[in-house]
Amino acid sequence: MRAAAFSDLIGPEGVTIIEQPTPDPGAGEAVVDVEACSINRHDLWILEGDSAMVDADDLPFVSGLDVAGVVRSVGDGVERIEPGDRVVLCPNETCGRCQFCREGPENHCEEFSLYHGGLAEAARVDADRLVPLPASVGTTAAAALPTAYLTARHMLRQADVAAGDLIFVPGATGGVGVASVQLADALGARTIGTSSSAEKLDRLRELGLDHAVEGVDPETLRETVGAIGTPDAVINHLGGPYTDVGLDLLRRGGRMVVCGRTAGNESEIDIPDLFLGHKRVIGSTMGTQPELRRLVDLVESGDLEPEIEATYPLGATDEAFGAMRDREAVGKIIVTP
Ligand SMILES: NC(=O)c1ccc[n+]([C@@H]2O[C@H](COP(=O)([O-])OP(=O)(O)OC[C@H]3O[C@@H](n4cnc5c(N)ncnc54)[C@H](OP(=O)(O)O)[C@@H]3O)[C@@H](O)[C@H]2O)c1
Ligand SMILES: [Zn+2]
Repeated sequence: MRAAAFSDLIGPEGVTIIEQPTPDPGAGEAVVDVEACSINRHDLWILEGDSAMVDADDLPFVSGLDVAGVVRSVGDGVERIEPGDRVVLCPNETCGRCQFCREGPENHCEEFSLYHGGLAEAARVDADRLVPLPASVGTTAAAALPTAYLTARHMLRQADVAAGDLIFVPGATGGVGVASVQLADALGARTIGTSSSAEKLDRLRELGLDHAVEGVDPETLRETVGAIGTPDAVINHLGGPYTDVGLDLLRRGGRMVVCGRTAGNESEIDIPDLFLGHKRVIGSTMGTQPELRRLVDLVESGDLEPEIEATYPLGATDEAFGAMRDREAVGKIIVTP
């Protein structure tokens, strides 16, 4: 089978198509013929050599978390899933033994990790991590869900977002950003989203964004977003200087949930403003498998349509990462092996 491997950690130019043996499932595993696998900023960090998870010794490395496709074969002991089933993978990898695996939520697992290997024609996965797809949910739409939409859903829940709330999403056009806007809209909340691109913001308005703010300069955003309103919550996947801006704008008692670092690993926090304002900063990673099931249900019921910028054949995986690096996309970028 063919796989799109990271052969050099130099960015999109480091992707090559390699031949590998088609995997066989071990006990408790399934092999999925991958129809769609979305890419995430997480994969791009790896490809750019900016992840502690993968270094030169691990090459060639096949990344790709968000697998959707058709089960080809199952190993011993697998009863719930059978060949021919259409499925999406929950890419959470958990130890199954720690307090959080026992009591939940599972994404707090002490050994939490993520599946990699979906950028290939077939993927060997833990069968228990497969979520069946209803006939009306396509594999391309399903592949958009696991990382971006699951993370956004979990963050909105951590922020206690309710109908009528005003939610600030700095950098609203990417995977987590668009998912946050759409899911907040579905909850009846209002959203403020930012982007460097007016054209991309026009598309976001069609997806339910209430207030579009063009700009990236944190100090300018402090003014322009502040003039719109006082957010009840900030969904922060950018980090860097946007953390301080978001906390400053947040209402008294408001919540900021942080999942990413696209704009920087470090942020300054105005400590007196934090405690005098009773503001909360909450870290969040991924979500739980039952939450992914809920997202599949939302797509089935027509209440959510994942936003997909483009699909690329496996041989053009380098171009898919180029589009992410060059900030071309609104929503998800999907590779279709
Ligand atoms: N902890 C978790 O479980 C988890 C899960 C998913 C994602 N994440 C993290 O969340 C972040 C977003 O991931 P994603 O896959 O949604 O990424 P993505 O699709 O590439 O996000 C693109 C968005 O980021 C903005 N952006 C890109 N570079 C920027 C920069 N240098 N300064 C300011 N804004 C910038 C873009 O703004 P423009 O519109 O201006 O181009 C766009 O809105 C990443 O840091 C990722 O690692 C974490
Ligand atoms: Zn655990």
